[in-house]
Amino acid sequence: MLIKKRFASEPSEARVTPEDVYLNRRRFLQISALGTGLAASSAHAGLFDFLSGDSDEPAAKPSERKPLDFRSTQTPEGLTLTPESKATSYNNFYEFGTDKTDPMNNSQQLDIEPWTLSVEGEVEKPGKVDVWELMNSAQLEERIYRMRCVEAWSMVIPWVGLELGSFLKRFAPTSRARYVAFETLYDPDQMPGQRNRFVGGGIDYPYVEGLRMDEAMHPLTLLSVGIYGKTLPPQNGAPIRLVVPWKYGFKGIKSIVRIRLVEEMPPTSWNRLAAQEYGFYANVNPEVDHPRWSQASERFIGPGGFFDVTRQPTLPFNGYGDEVASLYRNMDLRKYY
Ligand code: MTE
Repeated sequence: MLIKKRFASEPSEARVTPEDVYLNRRRFLQISALGTGLAASSAHAGLFDFLSGDSDEPAAKPSERKPLDFRSTQTPEGLTLTPESKATSYNNFYEFGTDKTDPMNNSQQLDIEPWTLSVEGEVEKPGKVDVWELMNSAQLEERIYRMRCVEAWSMVIPWVGLELGSFLKRFAPTSRARYVAFETLYDPDQMPGQRNRFVGGGIDYPYVEGLRMDEAMHPLTLLSVGIYGKTLPPQNGAPIRLVVPWKYGFKGIKSIVRIRLVEEMPPTSWNRLAAQEYGFYANVNPEVDHPRWSQASERFIGPGGFFDVTRQPTLPFNGYGDEVASLYRNMDLRKYY
């Protein structure tokens, strides 16, 4: 209860509070997944602890992260990095629970080594890739991108990875490949959210995502194997995940085991759960509100403390319009949200 009062006293957050968004999304999940109106319980605690740094809970022992060899880059002008401690403790990875701190607390035992990623479907040379071998052999680079969650918070994260397009070319896509479908590991023994629909937010696992072929081949689209110079921690999608900076964060599927090139638009997890709220395209768009909250602005999670909340306008295509708007020429972005 105390937690609720502290949020309610934040006047600058009156229009779209993180709590509103967060709880509304959870409430929707609980109703749709379980057919009950059970109130969110521990949800408050995780978010509040994160923002205030007041948690009594000892943080789970982080799994060991390895330094990566990569071509580094400067932080683009006008961007401030989100501190690593926040980017690795405030996460969405529903396979480990729906509270923001659940992924950090519950994923540290995820067995990520070895890890095989298979590439199949409309390719002339299907194959399986040893992801740890890929990390050593590929020319990795750093990309500092804005990341905008559909829940109206954002971060700036230094990813390390390789372009998805150049990776896919190794497998020689056929002319029939029009879309790329991605799949997260399915292992209920390791992922409590896959064992229990309540813990996993009602998603039908494995988590799946997709891109149109031209989106996948775009030079901004990254297969990421690291953040802040080191391999990904499990909560951020170790050992390999997708990053598409002009789209809402839910397109950034984590812990990928399968990539399939296909002819038809593939199903995607959030669209399957609530098609009227989450589209296939999910391009960041301040002019198209989520049915239950505005997308015009966002709460930037930066170096400041709890009372230092930065609300900033959301940019079309998350600020990457010059690079990607042409992909959607002649498309009605209200219809294809
Ligand atoms: N991938 C899987 N497999 N499961 C998930 O629950 N959540 C998505 C996306 N990828 C999710 C996922 C959502 S909603 C967001 S906002 C981002 O991961 C969050 O990435 P981060 O925790 O590294 O910030």
